[in-house]
This record gives sequence, structure tokens and C-alpha cells, in this order.
Amino acid sequence: MKESNGNKISRRRFAGGMAAILGGLGFGMNGPVLGQGVDPKSRAAAGRVPMSEYDALAKLCFNENPYGPPASVQEAMTHAFKYANRYMCPDGGIVDAIAALHGVGPEHVLLGAGSTEILDIVGTTFLADHKKVVSVEPTFGSVYEHATGLQAEAIRLPLRADAQQDIPAILKAVTDNHPHVGFVYLCNPNNPTGAIVPKNEVKQLLDGLPPEVPVLIDEAYHHFVEDPAYATSVPYVLEGRPVIVARTFSKIAALAGMRLGYGIAPTSLIQKMEPYVDNMSVNILAKWGGAAALKDTEGLNRVRNDILQTRKKTTSALTALGYAVIPSETNFFMVNLRQNARPVIHGFRQHGILVGRPFPPMDDYLRVSVGTPAEMERFLAAFESIMKT
Ligand SMILES: Cc1ncc(COP(=O)(O)O)c(C=O)c1O
Repeated sequence: MKESNGNKISRRRFAGGMAAILGGLGFGMNGPVLGQGVDPKSRAAAGRVPMSEYDALAKLCFNENPYGPPASVQEAMTHAFKYANRYMCPDGGIVDAIAALHGVGPEHVLLGAGSTEILDIVGTTFLADHKKVVSVEPTFGSVYEHATGLQAEAIRLPLRADAQQDIPAILKAVTDNHPHVGFVYLCNPNNPTGAIVPKNEVKQLLDGLPPEVPVLIDEAYHHFVEDPAYATSVPYVLEGRPVIVARTFSKIAALAGMRLGYGIAPTSLIQKMEPYVDNMSVNILAKWGGAAALKDTEGLNRVRNDILQTRKKTTSALTALGYAVIPSETNFFMVNLRQNARPVIHGFRQHGILVGRPFPPMDDYLRVSVGTPAEMERFLAAFESIMKT
């Protein structure tokens, strides 16, 4: 099925992050707070938590999909298991399915082991020669972490007072730093705020940038957006603008653990990125599972509607308790605690609930991923108890 371009429906350090969270929970380490740096011990400990302890936690920290992949996707992955011993085997039609979805040729599609790999490829390609990445703070930090690893500089602009991304400020930063800007990163909707950049502002950004500065537009949460002011930026790729759109199967298709994402870009940019692409990084189960997910629009819509309904119910309950929530267009939201979030995050850990890390400078805000209705009941009960004390 082809996605209409005006479509309305629509962790790297993951290992270290999880280690840090679990460390904080007493799984044998005093890890740093998630996102505040990861030491090699924390990284090595990731995934070594016993299954029963992990399963008992309400995991509202990584914006995962709590429902797991639809049955159709599980069946496709089971079917593909017979290729587990092969290298170059049928890919389930994943590249063609993505290309057809967006109305582009397969030469415009880059597959990655999660969209994180696409973000890394963009960084490696466009931050050579000490070029800078321009974006906002807070946003999805992966691009900044990769830039640090490359010894590239990042220009991190503050969000506006209403938690929206400041497009004129991004344009000014690019102009001021021209020709040293490697690319602009626009997370739309933004993580951790859940706020969209309206389509007219995306256009304002693209129209105002020097033509040689590529823009990486991260649409990881595209499928959850309801606001008609939002639009995917894929049509800009079709126009041949220097835009790379990144998408993931981790959220809507619940394949975070399988690692599948992709980038859509004009062939001129694909050619520049090609030397850094690892054609073997995506495993065969993910490919078949992803292709099945794209076919199962009914299954994905059901999950999306359930998540949106649960988010609205939870945020209404928080508002009724007197806590302001930033309007979200995603499967997570930020609530203003009116106090530093760190002790509250710790309080949730005591209740067996993992919530998002601190996102400086939004120190009083807590990011919460939308889990199942039962998990959100648990979250609300813990919230009331923690905030009372
Ligand atoms: C905005 C954003 N982009 C990309 C990713 C990475 O997703 P993936 O699992 O596809 O690497 C995430 C994960 O949380 C995200 O929030």
C-alpha cells in the first residue's frame, strides 16, 4: 500500500542506557543516570538482567511499543528463520515495499539496523572535516553523541519558551556558521517533547538554507501524529531537495529489538553516504518482519489507536491532578512536575517503573512513554504516591 505524502496517520547507546537504568535499579551496578554518560562496565552489563526481573518492570522509558509486533509480523519472521544460516538470501521484498510506500525508486532507500544506523551514516558522511551539526536541545541525542565520537562540533539551540523548535534560530545559526555546517538535524515530531514542527515551518527552514546544507529529518514518530499542521517531508526528497528522511520500525511496528529503520534521500546524497553503508547490518528476520508490517496496515492502525487513546486518558488524568502536559503527537509525553525530575525518576524506580531520563535544560519535566492501559494505571498510582511525598 502506498502512503499518501500528505499522510495524517499515520538507542544507541541503548545498551549503555539500559545498563544505566538497570544499574540504578540495583542490578549489580551503580550506573550513571541514563544519558549522563556510560562507562564500559555499564555497557557490558546491559542485557544481563534476569528475564523475570526485567519482565516485571513497567518499561515507560524508551518510547517502545508495549504490544509487540502484530501476529502477521511474527509469522513472517518465523517463516524467515530458515534463512538464519544464509548471507545473500531473499529479503522479503523490504526495499521494494518501502520504495512503493513512498512512491520512490529503490535507489532512494537506505536500510539500517534501526534508524539510529541511518543517523550515524548521515553523521559520518556529512561531519567530515570538522563540520558542525545544527539542531536543538533537547532533542534525540543520538546525533550529538555520534558527532562527539567523530570529534565534530554540535550547535545546540534552545527550544522556544513554548517547547517548540525555533526555526529562525536554526536558520541564523547555519548562516552564522556557513560554510562549516555539515547538516541540520530536525526531529519531527521532536523527542523528548512530542511536539511537531508544522509543515509551513519545515518549508521555511528548507527554503531558507543554503542549497548545499543537507537536512536530516527524523520522523521516528510520524505514525502517531494527528495534527493536520504536520506533514511528512518525503515529498521534498521527490523534489530533489537535500533532505534525508529517517523512519523506524521500532515504534509503530514494535520491532525495536529487531533493529530496522531506513532513510529516503535523493540519489546524489545516497551516493555520498554509500561508502559508509553496511549492507550486512540488517538481519533477515527484521527484513521479513518489516515487509509484513508494511502490509498489515490494519494491525498497525489498531496499535496506534490504542496507544493514542491510552496517552489521552493518562494525560487527562495528570491534568486533572493539576500537572501541565506538553501537547504530544507521539507515543510519549512530557509532564511538568514543578520540581526537579531526578528524585521523581528515582521514586518510580522504587515502584518498579522505568520512566525517561532527565532532559536538561528541561529539568522539571518527566518524559513518559505510553505503555498498556494496565501499565499506565500503575504509573498514575505511583505518580500520586510519589508526588504526595
Ligand atoms: C527521534 C528518534 N529517532 C530515532 C530513534 C532510534 O530508533 P531505532 O530503534 O530505529 O534506532 C529513536 C529511538 O528512540 C528516536 O526517539
